[in-house]
Amino acid sequence: METSQAKTRKLLLGIDLGTSRTVVMSNRGAKAMVRSVVGYPKDIIGVKILNRTSSFGDDALNKRSYMNLFFPLRDGVLKEASERDTEAARELLQHVISLADPKPEDEICCILGVPARASQSNKNQLLKITDGLVDLAMVISEPFMVAYGLNKLTNAIIIDIGAGTVDICAMRGTIPAAEDQLSLLKAGNFINEVLSNAIGQAYPDVQMNPLLAERIKEQHGFVGEPPGKAVVTLRSAGKPVPHDLTGELRSACEAIVPEILEGVKQLITVFDPEDQEEALRNVILAGGGSRLHGLDVMVAEGLRDYGEVSVSRVSDPDHAGCAGALKLATELPAEYWSQVGDTSRG
Ligand SMILES: Nc1ncnc2c1ncn2[C@@H]1O[C@H](COP(=O)(O)OP(=O)(O)OP(=O)(O)O)[C@@H](O)[C@H]1O
Ligand SMILES: [Mg+2]
Repeated sequence: METSQAKTRKLLLGIDLGTSRTVVMSNRGAKAMVRSVVGYPKDIIGVKILNRTSSFGDDALNKRSYMNLFFPLRDGVLKEASERDTEAARELLQHVISLADPKPEDEICCILGVPARASQSNKNQLLKITDGLVDLAMVISEPFMVAYGLNKLTNAIIIDIGAGTVDICAMRGTIPAAEDQLSLLKAGNFINEVLSNAIGQAYPDVQMNPLLAERIKEQHGFVGEPPGKAVVTLRSAGKPVPHDLTGELRSACEAIVPEILEGVKQLITVFDPEDQEEALRNVILAGGGSRLHGLDVMVAEGLRDYGEVSVSRVSDPDHAGCAGALKLATELPAEYWSQVGDTSRG
């Protein structure tokens, strides 16, 4: 990054660039979250109303009637569809960095999370958009960030249930290698689609879409035994009518569970046999999807054949990954970053 001023202070950032929301935390106490969406006014009238040429997060969503919206991340990685998406990703990143209030004299060093099995080209692409925005950037796997933040570096299994991907990682006391991690594409957004379709099929009069289904899921989502009846008021031919969505919610939310169990079973075998017992007592659910009611119980049940299993949830799923990235940025001197992950200097 070029400025004429000498950079005298380090601003350390953890950034979790997620499919549904982006979180930033700094070593000076900044903490912010934005929906991962960028809006551009459709025409000059929009520019006049907005008084700017772009808008971010909920602000962009609220003004969608006169905005073109871009969701620059898909399945947790940058969309390569168009230059506009890349530009939107860059502007989103620039926006969250600005929320951390950098000063001209700051050398900005940031650690960014990527899905567990992001390809080398995904990582390079992400590093490329940091060019000119920060002085030093490193990408590391999202579930590793969570593990680092919780200090669960050995004999633990992290399951990060996001919107685009479920990332599972076996922590064995080293930086996780490719065989220690996997990414599944059936995650939060997949539940939204299944739920939206199921409701649409059961109640053809109801206007349903994945965004609405997401809201219903976040309020009532569960797996296993229903915690109660999920009765939701939906507009049927324009009129509000209560609908019992318990069955639809259950099957949609449970749709992601079989692959998660398969993934955990596959990753258990990367531990030494004498460590497997301890790893199974340290299964940790993270990411927004970890809030699904009953998921901890269902994962533990699904692993019953493996002996004693204990599944817990992180206390703050919105910030756990980002907090881990910031902790790593604080504890690991920048000179060593290139030994830990892929880095680029701006
Ligand atoms: N109470 C809830 N119950 C079920 N799901 C929830 C709840 N709250 C949030 N979610 C879901 O969690 C997902 C968002 O989680 P998170 O913020 O960890 O994802 P992300 O980091 O943006 O995505 P990714 O890691 O895939 O890029 C969304 O699908 C959202 O609907
Ligand atoms: Mg995430």
